[in-house]
Amino acid sequence: MSFTVAIDGPAAAGKGTVSKAVAAHFGFAHLDTGLLYRAVGRRVLEGAAPVAAARALRAEDLEGELRTPEVAQEASRVAVIPEVRAALVDFQRAFATRAGGAVLDGRDIGTVICPEAPAKLFVTASPEVRAERRYLELTAKGLEVTREEVLADVKERDARDSERATAPLKPAGDAVVIDTSEMSIDEAVAAAIAAIEEKRGEG
Ligand code: CDP
Repeated sequence: MSFTVAIDGPAAAGKGTVSKAVAAHFGFAHLDTGLLYRAVGRRVLEGAAPVAAARALRAEDLEGELRTPEVAQEASRVAVIPEVRAALVDFQRAFATRAGGAVLDGRDIGTVICPEAPAKLFVTASPEVRAERRYLELTAKGLEVTREEVLADVKERDARDSERATAPLKPAGDAVVIDTSEMSIDEAVAAAIAAIEEKRGEG
């Protein structure tokens, strides 16, 4: 039986951490859909055309370093292009309906990719909190960035992601909003699990 958990939210809101923990808790598979856009963005930085890169995306393209600010920025630029998004739909929907349950995190999972998902979460936090978390994550990996640069990146991508015409970032009407600004990781994960348990009970 399939059961889809859709987790959306702005940049560096903790979707990845929450999604992984939720998937492990329920024994579901997890797909970070941001990686698909990042992989297309990286191919574009290497010289490829965006739509062709999205249509030709292969598993190998997801290997290596995709979590840099440059790749994130290019990801949000290619994510504006409707044909790029369309090229990635089938893979995401097939993943969502796999047997055994699936957690997908991104920007448009609850609104466009899986509007029928029984459990939808919108994980968010203030821009300052998100930028601080991303700053710590990037510097821990040895990347040389400043707090100001990271905050600017987060705000710029949020604006582009929210204002685009196709599949803009916004909570689905029936999404449970979890603001993690004042929560620890454990508290955010517990809140997500509780919200999903409730939806499972209804199913
Ligand atoms: O990790 P972070 O939240 O910073 O970003 P990500 O989830 O890896 O996504 C990178 C970029 O891909 C976003 O800024 C979006 O522009 C785009 N994206 C999207 O448009 N739709 C998705 N379902 C996932 C990501």
